[in-house]
Amino acid sequence: MADPFRVGLLGHGTVGSAFDELLGRQADAIAAATGRRPELCGVLTRSRGSFQEILDGADAVVELIGGLEPAREYALAALAAGKPVVTANKQLLSQHGDELFAAARQVGTQLRYEAAVAGVVPVIRVMRESFAGAHIEKVHGIVNGTTNYILSEMARTGASYADALARAQELGYAEADPTDDVTGKDAAAKMAILARLAFHTPVHLDQVPYEGIEEITANDIDYAKEFGLVLKLLGVAERRADGISVRVFPCFLYRGHPLASVSGPFNAVTLESPAITEITLSGPGAGGQETASAVLGDLVSVMSSSGMELDPIEKLEIVPGEQVESAFYLHLEVEDQPGVLGEIAKVLGEKLVSVKSVVQKGLGEKARLVMVMHPVAEGRFDGAVAAISELPIMRSAPRAIRVIEEEFVS
Ligand SMILES: NC(=O)c1ccc[n+]([C@@H]2O[C@H](COP(=O)([O-])OP(=O)(O)OC[C@H]3O[C@@H](n4cnc5c(N)ncnc54)[C@H](OP(=O)(O)O)[C@@H]3O)[C@@H](O)[C@H]2O)c1
Repeated sequence: MADPFRVGLLGHGTVGSAFDELLGRQADAIAAATGRRPELCGVLTRSRGSFQEILDGADAVVELIGGLEPAREYALAALAAGKPVVTANKQLLSQHGDELFAAARQVGTQLRYEAAVAGVVPVIRVMRESFAGAHIEKVHGIVNGTTNYILSEMARTGASYADALARAQELGYAEADPTDDVTGKDAAAKMAILARLAFHTPVHLDQVPYEGIEEITANDIDYAKEFGLVLKLLGVAERRADGISVRVFPCFLYRGHPLASVSGPFNAVTLESPAITEITLSGPGAGGQETASAVLGDLVSVMSSSGMELDPIEKLEIVPGEQVESAFYLHLEVEDQPGVLGEIAKVLGEKLVSVKSVVQKGLGEKARLVMVMHPVAEGRFDGAVAAISELPIMRSAPRAIRVIEEEFVS
């Protein structure tokens, strides 16, 4: 009979109950693999259990309460007591990661969090273990399944943002209050966690500028099809000469890009490093069962390894968004009259923004210009757009969306 490995479970909601069930089903297999049989030594919810009793009896603690408090307080107490902690809590890690990692380092115990980013896609494990010897240059991906479903539906059916969101809610892909997902805040929390791991630098949620998808229209998606572009909400974390940049924004991709074909409520993350060129991991982004499976994977890792080296901290500078260079798609509804293109080209020239391609479409009230720009510092581009929007030839406000410029060969 294998010795028990006692697990204190904090939270028994969607993920906690799925974890409880999965643990019961997999306990024999885990005992055979690790020599210890995992079993719950206590469950804490708002109505049952005592945290202190659970902590005293546990070999490891699984935090599935969510939110900041009391999850933070409990995780810190468990780490201080030398108990490994497994969590799926992206808000906690993206806002109190430093404190939690320091507590784990201090006593030489483990803090594992695979389920906090990209659901069941094992991106944390790959970065932390498989890529431990690689110098990661860039991590970018689709880390929010709700917004990816909405954008995929808009592209597939021509639906408006509001209709696609309503459909996502009907299917359970979006919560009744979808704010954190559609504003990009959820993706920003995940990118803070990924950037910390990739660049060994503390990154707080507050340092990740994010833009969401609420302003995207069916027209944006339609027009971009003319250029062979697909719209995604991307998280991008990359090294630069002067530090790192970590951001979330809606973005057009060429169809051949590895992330362009990721549709529906799926997640995918691409890692780039000179040693391995690039790999893309993809899979279901959320759901109780999937998240529970990632949590259990972390628990088995905790059981099979006695403390692992935790990341050294490099503290690279985080570069402000306006200094980062991006390529842009620019859609302009203009008066149908001679000299329009010249006026716009003049403004772009003055601001040193260079055009990669331009298409003139429609006549009369439908006249419009659709342009793709070469990469330019975002602050400079914003200045050009502001100046263009003042021109009397403009019939409506310009619409600008970033483009990932490289054309990938699939
Ligand atoms: N759901 C997903 O698909 C998913 C995906 C990825 C990551 N996650 C993460 O997983 C974590 C759990 O999410 P969930 O969807 O399972 O949440 P949930 O369904 O709301 O469950 C939360 C659980 O925590 C308990 N709880 C809340 N406040 C508490 C307190 N003050 N003291 C003790 N227990 C408390 C609740 O108790 P009661 O039972 O008494 O209400 C409930 O059992 C979150 O960090 C979330 O971000 C979830």
